[in-house]
Amino acid sequence: MGTDSPSPSTAPVAGLGAKGAARAVAQHHQAVVGFLLGFFLVLLLYTTVSSQFGSQNAIGVLQSTSTSPAVRTGQNAMTPTSPSPKPNDVKKGDHIKEDNKEQQSNTPNKMEEDRTQHGINGIEKENQTEAKLDDEKVKNPEGGQAAVNDARSDRMEEEDLIRQEIDQGSMIKNDTNIGQVTPRKPICDLSDPRYDICEISGDARALGANRTVLYLPPAGERGADSQEWSIRDQSRKYLEFVGNVTVRSLNASQAAAAPACTSRHAVPAVVFAMNGLTSNPWHDFSDVLIPLFLTTRALDGEVQFLVSDLQPWFVDKYRLILRNLSRHDVVDFNRDGGVRCYPRVTVGLRSHRDLGIDPARAPRNYTLLDFQLYVREIYGLPPPGIDVPYKEQQQRTMPRLMLINRGRTRKFVNFPEIVAAARDAGFEVVPVEPRRDLGVEELARAVDSCDVLMGAHGAGLTNFFFLRSNAVMLQVVPWGHMEHSCMVFYGGPAREMRLRDVEYSIAAVESTLYDKYGEDSPVISDPESIHRQGWQFGMRYYWIEQDIRLNVTRFAPTLHQVLQMLKE
Ligand SMILES: *[C@@H]1O[C@H](CO)[C@@H](O)[C@H](O)[C@H]1NC(C)=O
Ligand SMILES: *[C@@H]1O[C@H](CO)[C@@H](O)[C@H](O)[C@H]1NC(C)=O
Ligand SMILES: *[C@@H]1O[C@H](CO)[C@@H](O)[C@H](O)[C@H]1NC(C)=O
Ligand SMILES: *[C@@H]1O[C@H](CO)[C@@H](O)[C@H](O)[C@H]1NC(C)=O
Ligand SMILES: *[C@@H]1O[C@H](CO)[C@@H](O)[C@H](O)[C@H]1NC(C)=O
Ligand SMILES: *[C@@H]1O[C@H](CO)[C@@H](O)[C@H](O)[C@H]1NC(C)=O
Ligand SMILES: *[C@@H]1O[C@H](CO)[C@@H](O)[C@H](O)[C@H]1NC(C)=O
Ligand SMILES: *[C@@H]1O[C@H](CO)[C@@H](O)[C@H](O)[C@H]1NC(C)=O
Repeated sequence: MGTDSPSPSTAPVAGLGAKGAARAVAQHHQAVVGFLLGFFLVLLLYTTVSSQFGSQNAIGVLQSTSTSPAVRTGQNAMTPTSPSPKPNDVKKGDHIKEDNKEQQSNTPNKMEEDRTQHGINGIEKENQTEAKLDDEKVKNPEGGQAAVNDARSDRMEEEDLIRQEIDQGSMIKNDTNIGQVTPRKPICDLSDPRYDICEISGDARALGANRTVLYLPPAGERGADSQEWSIRDQSRKYLEFVGNVTVRSLNASQAAAAPACTSRHAVPAVVFAMNGLTSNPWHDFSDVLIPLFLTTRALDGEVQFLVSDLQPWFVDKYRLILRNLSRHDVVDFNRDGGVRCYPRVTVGLRSHRDLGIDPARAPRNYTLLDFQLYVREIYGLPPPGIDVPYKEQQQRTMPRLMLINRGRTRKFVNFPEIVAAARDAGFEVVPVEPRRDLGVEELARAVDSCDVLMGAHGAGLTNFFFLRSNAVMLQVVPWGHMEHSCMVFYGGPAREMRLRDVEYSIAAVESTLYDKYGEDSPVISDPESIHRQGWQFGMRYYWIEQDIRLNVTRFAPTLHQVLQMLKE
């Protein structure tokens, strides 16, 4: 709070001053929104590229404490005494080269990160489809792609980010001049600051290989006019590397020459992209799953997904949710050579805000809590009304706390000490670290069995969707005036889901930046001045360079507070 960290959901309103011409205001508005969205996606991207929670399997249980539940520990379970990223967490037989910085594997995770970085710099995006990248990765994990990964240092990532800001800026300026034409009979709505969407009812023909959806007006209404839109079919319209889908409303002669249906379907279809910033769980939910819920949940499964840039790992990871939202097969749209005819096609996904739902705009007035309860039901977790495990299970003598240790950035350097402190405070501790071989189902059950989910600000906290109402999310806020971001990304959503949200803001000395730069450096003494130099500076220091050495003495009252909350 009080920081100038912009929030896409609030800041644009502030940007809407009492300007003169409505058009100018609209464009200004769009530009501001665009910039802020750009800022945020980069910011979140950083969570992606620097977090091992980008892992296919969000997080995995590292090691159960003696008193903790029998959660599976993998063959490479590590002791929490190692504070550094685990270099050896590579499955035997994968034949993957490792470097000493980060885990390498042929799971989509690494590729996602890498691809995201390429994409965000506008490189290799035009000519290389995701499918091709997938193939390369699968066929040749040690090939060129992996070599690029190996060569990438943190420094390069930073430079990438700075370049991205420049790209982003110019892209947005141009975007403000696009899409201002109001269609005669609107099919596409380009007015929302977050997303573009097209709705075609009647004779809609989807040509996957062309990334095109055609609308044939009723015979009597076909005139001379044809119209065409090109939109990004995900919830971030400024995300450069989400490919566009073309929507064309045909005139009389075009309609007469339109390709015939190769299949006809009774249910509506939704076209959306699975790439973008996905692979970071926060983005998986914020950019795709929640928007998909908003766009399709009210259809009660009677809808078909035509997925552009299909990501097999995503389909597999979230299969339970996808299968419930749609009882029909997922179509790999880019590779679909047919002409699929539907009574209705929606291109794009609605989205209200980052990781959020605005009930007034949602079908059936859904809330984020509805979404969470829906997800919990799908994963077979206890229904609402069941209290946190500590209260509900007579045999529990201590509340259970899941402690997330991030892999590379914002990690706890004194993790074992924190585990011990939480135990001393009266918690049963379940330490977790990023892991790939743990499925969402298993993770969901593990989180559900906990009363507290604790971690430093980062994507691992997205697992709060699996907590029960009244459970506690304990977010450790790193140094650098990050309170606002912490609230926007996690604290606010947690409250909407009736979780109890507790933040612990570290002191300067608890940041490794303090050791590195000293107390007189503005990095420590004046974070605002760093933020003012440009977001990429705040990013570099506070999101990327920083690790955390929690002062367990100073932290003890927070643990005590959480314990009291649970005992109430
Ligand atoms: C795409 O490929 C074509 C020919 O292969 C090349 O001329 C063009 O510059 C490429 N575009 C990008 C953006 O790489
Ligand atoms: C934006 O438009 C200007 C002028 O029309 C052009 O020079 C520039 O390359 C464009 N930028 C992008 C990213 O397309
Ligand atoms: C779809 O793409 C194919 C191959 O590029 C092209 O021949 C065909 O005309 C396209 N169809 C439409 C309706 O755009
Ligand atoms: C339909 O649109 C095409 C392309 O704009 C144009 O060439 C054609 O003459 C139009 N047909 C009619 C019947 O107006
Ligand atoms: C792709 O879609 C976005 C927004 O959905 C739009 O701003 C952009 O102009 C489109 N790009 C092209 C090449 O049509
Ligand atoms: C989705 O899940 C709900 C609740 O478990 C269930 O009632 C419904 O039938 C499921 N729908 C589909 C399409 O599987
Ligand atoms: C949702 O709420 C808004 C106002 O909050 C109301 O106008 C709208 O009718 C509601 N929609 C449904 C489907 O209940
Ligand atoms: C840890 O916190 C306690 C209580 O706030 C304080 O007295 C102590 O000096 C701190 N230790 C370090 C190393 O900063």
